[in-house]
Amino acid sequence: MTAPRTILITGGAGGIGLGIARAFVAAGDRVVLADRDGTAAQAAAAGLGSTARALALDITDETAVATAFDALAADGGVDVLVNNAGILSVHGAVVDLDASAYRSILDVNVVGTFAVTQAFARHRIALGNGGGTIVNLSSIGGRQPTPGMGAYESSKAAVDSITRWAAIELAQHGIRVNAVAPGPVLTPMLQAGLPEGSDARTAWSSRIPLGDLAEVDDIAHAVVFLAGAGARHITGVSLAVDGGQLLT
Ligand SMILES: NC(=O)c1ccc[n+]([C@@H]2O[C@H](COP(=O)([O-])OP(=O)(O)OC[C@H]3O[C@@H](n4cnc5c(N)ncnc54)[C@H](O)[C@@H]3O)[C@@H](O)[C@H]2O)c1
Repeated sequence: MTAPRTILITGGAGGIGLGIARAFVAAGDRVVLADRDGTAAQAAAAGLGSTARALALDITDETAVATAFDALAADGGVDVLVNNAGILSVHGAVVDLDASAYRSILDVNVVGTFAVTQAFARHRIALGNGGGTIVNLSSIGGRQPTPGMGAYESSKAAVDSITRWAAIELAQHGIRVNAVAPGPVLTPMLQAGLPEGSDARTAWSSRIPLGDLAEVDDIAHAVVFLAGAGARHITGVSLAVDGGQLLT
């Protein structure tokens, strides 16, 4: 039995982030749900029990991110960072998209991911012995384009690149950095819009060789694996969890 680790999950108040938190709690770890929606994070942490706590944090505010890591360091530190917070707020064709709309998605998905990665790496290096690991939430969209989704998809290609960038530089400190790249995931929100048997669900599923969208647990298990000792020799990869969609 290994000692419980502290796992910081950005965007942990709902969707995939909350599923990831649930999986770490089930594995015996402690989780910190960091979300810009502090109220939702509080409610989610209360639902997970005494090994979960909430942190109101906007990852685009690098000063707040640094302050949060100071507080976490004073409170036992963070062993694992899951950079899950991300937005799919902007759709638009390359001939239409407004540059400011594009910038808004890059600010969260790319610069926000970078800011938390940097703060975590500084935190681990300051501990003197390095170690610890990062798992980023990417998307297969970073490798397979869908018309109208390029703003989001290029932000996720950047997340894959940040993963490799951080992995090569932080390996000397024993810090591993990987990503999980889901295809479409049946989050509660998507599930409501795509009931089983509906035409829309069939259309989405038809792109996926294994026949259906991912469950949140499919993503969570991959994250827990990459964060664990079983992945001790893996760094710099972006693991597609997509039912084979990238094969098509
Ligand atoms: N749902 C999918 O089908 C899918 C597919 C591929 C990749 N992903 C990626 O998985 C991750 C989670 O997706 P989801 O579907 O659960 O999203 P979601 O919208 O359900 O949850 C995202 C969470 O992040 C929080 N958040 C947003 N901006 C933030 C910020 N600036 N600072 C802190 N928290 C912030 C939100 O409050 C929310 O709780 C994202 O990175 C997303 O791009 C999702």
